[in-house]
Amino acid sequence: MRVLASSLLLSTALASPLLERAAKPIYWLLAGDSTTAPNGGWGDGFLSTTVASGSSGHNYGHSGATTASFRTGGDWAKVIKDIGTYKSSYDVYTTIQFGHNDQKETSGVTLDQYKANLLKFAQEVTSAGGQPILVTPLTRRNFQSDGKVAENLATQRNITIQVATSNNIKYIDLNIASETYVNAIGKTAASKYNLASDDWTHLNTWGGVVFARIVSDLLVEKYPSNFQAYTKANATLSALIKAGKPA
Ligand SMILES: *[C@@H]1O[C@H](CO)[C@@H](O)[C@H](O)[C@H]1NC(C)=O
Ligand SMILES: *[C@@H]1O[C@H](CO)[C@@H](O)[C@H](O)[C@H]1NC(C)=O
Repeated sequence: MRVLASSLLLSTALASPLLERAAKPIYWLLAGDSTTAPNGGWGDGFLSTTVASGSSGHNYGHSGATTASFRTGGDWAKVIKDIGTYKSSYDVYTTIQFGHNDQKETSGVTLDQYKANLLKFAQEVTSAGGQPILVTPLTRRNFQSDGKVAENLATQRNITIQVATSNNIKYIDLNIASETYVNAIGKTAASKYNLASDDWTHLNTWGGVVFARIVSDLLVEKYPSNFQAYTKANATLSALIKAGKPA
């Protein structure tokens, strides 16, 4: 099915030179911690529900990862290798989302190192022939007594945005978008996305689908010419998110 769709796109492109650039599908490489990873993050939901037929990808999110351990543990080398493997047939985009573990006092990663590591990831994606997208960290969903979630990733959000804007790197602000949505729906509705009833960080399968849609909507809204044609829309879900209603 995927092969068929992509060869159809290809033949359309050959018939019409104007569409040639648009005919290369996307291969998504997702780099991050457990909030991207399978079983707890948005990555698998992103690949399975937002990526149009013909495009594809791999979720390299790793539970517990920091910007340092993702490299020393070998995950980053796999991302770079995949860029080499897929870049001739696809536009390869790599999302880079870290912060939850880097910020822990025991991480051994200073804020300066976090910043430098994010930039190095992005530069290496570019050198390998891929395109980096920095993603500010998914909000935790710990509600305070004022009915709003605690903003405990603001520093990491700011640094991620600073790295992107000062180096002309694409980025999306998932931190604010996810926080705004969770605050709008409130604690009871937000609890439905918890991986376990008392886990206000990780996402169950449906939570992964909902927050993946937030990621996808941010990408399509900010960079429509890059992503719209390769995205499978869900207008119903996007409208609920936009309206701040539980999905
Ligand atoms: C993050 O950046 C915003 C806007 O630049 C600023 O108002 C806020 O104080 C910063 N927060 C932190 C924690 O650095
Ligand atoms: C689209 O979103 C709606 C509303 O959240 C959901 O019920 C439905 O299953 C989604 N459709 C697909 C194909 O994912």
